[in-house]
Amino acid sequence: MIKGVILAGGQGTRLRPFTHLINKHLLPVYDKPLIYYPLLAMRNAGIKEILLTSNKEDLPNFKKLLGSGSEFNLRITYAAQNGPKGIAHALALAEKFANGAKIAVMLGDNIFTNHEQIKSGVAAFAKDGGARLFLKEVPDPERFGIAEVHQARITSIIEKPKSPLSNLAVTGLYLYDSDVFAIVKTLKPSERGELEITDVNNYYVKNGLARYDIVKGDWIDAGTFDSLVHASMLMLKKNREFPVDIT
Ligand code: DAU
Repeated sequence: MIKGVILAGGQGTRLRPFTHLINKHLLPVYDKPLIYYPLLAMRNAGIKEILLTSNKEDLPNFKKLLGSGSEFNLRITYAAQNGPKGIAHALALAEKFANGAKIAVMLGDNIFTNHEQIKSGVAAFAKDGGARLFLKEVPDPERFGIAEVHQARITSIIEKPKSPLSNLAVTGLYLYDSDVFAIVKTLKPSERGELEITDVNNYYVKNGLARYDIVKGDWIDAGTFDSLVHASMLMLKKNREFPVDIT
């Protein structure tokens, strides 16, 4: 059974001054804290067990909000990341939790609206090895990891390229086989001093093991004020059409 990992650490520098006081993933997106959206996406994709990682000082707030996860029909456990040392650094905390199982990793500031597609991707991945990534065309490729593809495989990923070779962003949803933890151990910090998820993904790419889906619904990385407002507007509209029940 695939297990879920949600990464909710980092500094939230693009959302200061609020993030001096509160973790980014606890800020509101319309009527819910941001962290509810990746949690519900995982839950609706059929994942039952989740590890949530965040900074040590922020974990008590997450525990207060989400507890054991029973309100969501999930089992949530927690792990503290010792400083914002990168997405792959946070991922390494999940090795014991995964215990040899495949994992679905989601960045805590990512919102996906098509949960059925995630469910199908997770089901297809049960039969595969390697990695399965989710790509989305974006108008501002300089903000993201950007992929080049050939047929069913990804052929390269460049993190925040100055001259992007495509506009296919690598979204913050990654399905990995159990090799991922050995791969993370080979990484060196990047120029900005972080263990980069793009380096993990490029390991799979170089070995011809990175498949992809194109995201069909909306996708928002809510890490900036503009995207946070955009997310609230989208959820306001969706909630008027189809009110969301968390249970
Ligand atoms: O959203 C998709 C993008 O996310 C990808 O296209 C990029 O390849 C990927 O590097 C990432 O870029 P960001 O610049 O958006 O990453 P950010 O530093 O904002 O971190 C994203 C999430 O990861 C955030 O919700 C918190 C979590 N995180 C981040 C760091 C650096 C941690 O849990 N621990 C960390 O140390």
